[in-house]
Amino acid sequence: MNKFFAVISLLLPLLSGCSEKPQSGELQKLPVDLIAGKEIAQKTCSGCHGMDGRGAQDNIPNLAAQIDTYLLKAAQTYDHGKRAGSSGDAMKITKDLSPTELRNVLGYYASLPPLGSSGNKSADYSYFDRGAALSKPCAGCHGADGNQTSAGVPRLAGQHPQYIVKAVKAYRDGTRTMPTMHEKLTSLSQADLENIAIYFALNKPKAVASKAANSYEGKQFTHQCAKCHGSMGSSEDASIPNLAGQDVNYLNTKIKAYRDKVRDHGEMHKILSEIKDKEIEKIAVFFAAEQPTQTNFIPPEPITALAQKCDLCHNAGNTNPAMLTPKLKGQNRTYLVNAMTAYRDGNRESSAMHKISSGLYMDATIEGIATHYSAEAAN
Ligand code: HEC
Ligand code: HEC
Ligand code: HEC
Ligand code: HEC
Repeated sequence: MNKFFAVISLLLPLLSGCSEKPQSGELQKLPVDLIAGKEIAQKTCSGCHGMDGRGAQDNIPNLAAQIDTYLLKAAQTYDHGKRAGSSGDAMKITKDLSPTELRNVLGYYASLPPLGSSGNKSADYSYFDRGAALSKPCAGCHGADGNQTSAGVPRLAGQHPQYIVKAVKAYRDGTRTMPTMHEKLTSLSQADLENIAIYFALNKPKAVASKAANSYEGKQFTHQCAKCHGSMGSSEDASIPNLAGQDVNYLNTKIKAYRDKVRDHGEMHKILSEIKDKEIEKIAVFFAAEQPTQTNFIPPEPITALAQKCDLCHNAGNTNPAMLTPKLKGQNRTYLVNAMTAYRDGNRESSAMHKISSGLYMDATIEGIATHYSAEAAN
């Protein structure tokens, strides 16, 4: 072999030493003293991680039976600042341990048997079913399936879910005037809101029964509306509401509200500023008489199907040892939510997980997959 290549091949392990793997590899080579490790666990870690490896609090991960080499790597990432956030601060404590001590205590936790169930509910998670349950308080006004039952209340069935989420947030932050009873909405999490929106979006909008003879009179005033709302009131853009088949009173008062700047929306003000009350009333009749179309939204893949993809790396049976992929089954739910949110938002580094977490754009997906894994029996 030529000298140059010989030197390079000697240097390679050192060069790649800046990444985490060889470092945890070094630690891994140390012999494990489980008795010494248990003592350290008792003294330093058990307040948070228990002696049985169960997190003492909701945001603390279970360590029992976790993959040894993964724990080594994970414990070191806190030192390198690669896992940011306040919960990571708790782990500063490991900095004071010698490599031997760290090796022993992590070896101890990895050697523990998998934990029994933490009493978590079922692993099933359906966006639609959760949305249906969460939307019960909305039913009195918006109808159980999102087809409104009272005049002046907007139909939500078939509406774009992205728009529903946006609209609720506008009531919350005061951009829109909060209607009565909507105060309840302020306590919904982002994931709850997404599930409700998916539920309503997937429900069939009720067809308009009969069309008034003069319904087309208003069409002449809608040319400028078409580029955003579609010529017949079915919008292609998920952030712009469908108007077709919407409640006529609602349309009437809201178009006036945008015109009069009672409801804020810059782009529409310009178009609406010249429109008279009589014309608006006709526009409302026109859109309300059109058959509503359902949003073209494609629901996210079911959680169980998604989990099968995660299992390609995370299922302990076929884990590639070089990847250091942690076990997820039986892990604490809140911890899983925090970890995935951190990957998604760039607060935790991992090239493998970054690619995946970009698919976890919705909080509801993160919540769903966390519910799934936390309810599975630990292995
Ligand atoms: C004050 C509470 C606290 C103490 C004490 C503590 N930890 Fe932690 N530990 C945490 C929290 C919180 C996290 C999760 C942080 C995050 O979200 O990244 C964590 C995460 C970990 C992880 C990463 C697990 C994973 O799945 O990625 C390891 C490994 C770990 N701790 C080991 C230890 C060891 C060993 C000790 C004792 C030497 C210890 N911890 C002491 C709170 C603590
Ligand atoms: C007491 C009756 C009532 C209840 C209960 C209620 N709403 Fe409403 N909702 C209204 C009214 C009235 C409006 C129209 C407000 C306006 O003028 O801006 C509205 C508007 C909305 C809008 C805006 C729709 C659009 O096309 O812009 C959304 C989204 C919405 N509600 C969602 C919900 C959800 C989700 C719940 C249940 C968690 C709920 N509402 C409960 C009466 C109600
Ligand atoms: C530049 C794009 C654009 C144009 C043009 C436009 N709109 Fe809108 N419209 C929007 C957006 C975006 C919203 C959602 C605003 C919000 O979040 O309150 C909206 C909301 C509405 C709503 C409220 C629907 C609901 O469910 O609450 C009505 C009614 C409406 N527009 C009617 C019209 C009419 C009538 C015209 C034509 C005269 C028009 N719009 C032109 C973009 C547009
Ligand atoms: C290509 C392989 C791969 C796939 C597919 C994958 N992961 Fe991971 N995952 C990893 C690796 C490697 C790590 C360790 C990264 C680190 O050290 O932060 C990890 C870490 C995690 C963690 C942190 C666990 C802990 O104890 O801190 C969670 C949570 C997670 N993955 C969830 C998922 C979910 C949910 C999916 C499917 C949507 C998924 N992963 C798909 C490779 C993968």
